[in-house]
Amino acid sequence: MILVFATHNTHKLKEIQALLPQTIEVLSLNDINCTEDIPETAFTIEENALLKAKYINEKYGYSVFADDTGLEVAALNNAPGVFSARYAGEHTNDTENVQLLLKNMENVINRQAQFKTIIALCWENKTYTFEGIAKGTIAEKTLGDNGFGYDPIFIPDGYTRTFAQLSAQEKNRISHRAKAFEKLLHFFKQMS
Ligand code: IMP
Repeated sequence: MILVFATHNTHKLKEIQALLPQTIEVLSLNDINCTEDIPETAFTIEENALLKAKYINEKYGYSVFADDTGLEVAALNNAPGVFSARYAGEHTNDTENVQLLLKNMENVINRQAQFKTIIALCWENKTYTFEGIAKGTIAEKTLGDNGFGYDPIFIPDGYTRTFAQLSAQEKNRISHRAKAFEKLLHFFKQMS
């Protein structure tokens, strides 16, 4: 069976291919010659993941899954959430997003936050979603050089270090994305 992962990231693709049953061949967007920007115009993380998966499914006819992730900060009414990639504006980068978040969290006592990943799957004319959540708190300043995005300011519950201070292996054991992928894998293991 062929399954498309709606990503251009070959690293993510190899990781998931290694975990899925051998009966499933995973293709990236590059493999199906999809070079266009897939719409990410929805207002929730779940809708965005579904939008991406449905777009590929309808346009290219493949079974497909897509992931979308956001950081939800309790004291900011769950912002940046679905807008995590463009919190500081359309053409900004991780550093600017992180700096804006730290500024908005200055002197805020409640620092609870969570990363949420939703994986949407279009498979055999049905859609499914799988959720992974990592709970934690927002640090007072950036700490650590590993990872990407908001990792330097996110301290997962049960730890005293940020995601950016953990090794990739440590982060992958507890991350939102890993949890959502585990659910996707479980789904396919049950089906095979
Ligand atoms: P995407 O849905 O994977 O493209 O992620 C949306 C935004 O959330 C990205 O621009 C990242 O800044 C942020 N993000 C996603 N996953 C992580 C993570 O594991 N750590 C830190 N930031 C992340």
